[in-house]
Amino acid sequence: MSTTRFLTGITTTGTPHLGNYVGAIRPTVAASQRAGTENFYFLADYHALIKCEDPLRIQRSTLEIAASWLAAGLDPEHVTFYRQSDIPEIPELTWLLTCVTGKGLLNRAHAYKAAQDKNAAAGREQDDGVTAGLFMYPVLMGADILMFKAHKVPVGRDQIQHIEMARDMAASFNHLYGEHFVLPEAAVDEHVATLPGLDGRKMSKSYDNTIPLFSSREQLKKLIGGILTDSRAPGEPKEAEGSALFQIYQAFATADETEALRKAYAEGIAWGDAKQLLFERVDGVIAPLRARYEELIHHPARIEQTLLAGAERARALAQPFIRELRTAVGLRSLAQAAAPAQPAKAAKAALPAFKQYREADGKFYFKLVAADGRLLLQSLGFEAPKDAGQAIARLQREGLAALAGQAEPGDGVAPQDVAAALAALKDAAG
Ligand code: TRP
Repeated sequence: MSTTRFLTGITTTGTPHLGNYVGAIRPTVAASQRAGTENFYFLADYHALIKCEDPLRIQRSTLEIAASWLAAGLDPEHVTFYRQSDIPEIPELTWLLTCVTGKGLLNRAHAYKAAQDKNAAAGREQDDGVTAGLFMYPVLMGADILMFKAHKVPVGRDQIQHIEMARDMAASFNHLYGEHFVLPEAAVDEHVATLPGLDGRKMSKSYDNTIPLFSSREQLKKLIGGILTDSRAPGEPKEAEGSALFQIYQAFATADETEALRKAYAEGIAWGDAKQLLFERVDGVIAPLRARYEELIHHPARIEQTLLAGAERARALAQPFIRELRTAVGLRSLAQAAAPAQPAKAAKAALPAFKQYREADGKFYFKLVAADGRLLLQSLGFEAPKDAGQAIARLQREGLAALAGQAEPGDGVAPQDVAAALAALKDAAG
């Protein structure tokens, strides 16, 4: 069985809070332990520069986030854990992708459009305060993903568009220069809880309602004491639904414990007592992590070592790959050009290519196009990019017959022509 490669980045701004733990750190660390997966997690510190111009905060946040993930059980032996800025091949790939990415595609990025809308609403010039870094954010992210041939990218809903853009960049590059990139897919976990914050809204740095993951015991108690409740007196029955306190408890407790608290609510538990229960429950989970965190944060040189070791592993893949890509686009040694023409390369340039895309009907399609642009095979629409990808894989494995009703040869194209194209692709892949 081939392994599925997961890759995700964590922007190094801010200090991790309980919402980050429940929504990202805990599920991602757990996922990294699943069999049949390979995992690449990295600190997206180049991305952080787009949002933060305070060097000390960048450095501090990188340290805190690395320590938090390690304290939460991320095993750097098992996961390739590295810092984006330790991989110079990533900005190099960013440029190669920049050159195949339509400016119009980037114009449509949600984050960029939101910045423009905000300017418009305030009556300012539309690009006021927008850096080229913000505009280029999706390309840098595409390079992060494509560099390591990730199949799946675990992200929040707000990032799905970025993964789709990375697919577009990969498809454009592959179309122009041959099949170099894997087309990645977003992996959105629908079951992960979003935690409410102190004021009942989603816990978020931008609402200033967070509980830092590694508060001291005393601080944690104080913050939990400040969670918004209603004014019902002890003895009065209380609603579990919509209670921030209850939801946070649920994220840290077993199903039985949660039921017990639900019952206590109905029986009129005093808010002070409920807060005490919550505090003990959260602290019970966090205390062992906190001890590891304190140990790590006081030995930053060890974290640095861990990250450099991760970068070394990552670069062992990135370096040969960027060499391959440079050659593909024509950034080649001139000494080689003086040598006799290379038939292998010529054959490669003449290969057919798969192109995947999305139509206005919202469905996902692929086609197989000959080197001269002739349409060899056209698929029907699939509901999800994954389905289209799987159909391509089946086609490559089992031939055209396996795709009956899902794809048709182009005008004047015989099934044998499709078979020949598939064979050529297979040969080239070795
Ligand atoms: N943009 C992501 C976020 O804000 C962070 C990120 C950067 C990332 N590069 C990535 C996530 C590559 C997944 C893959 O959450």
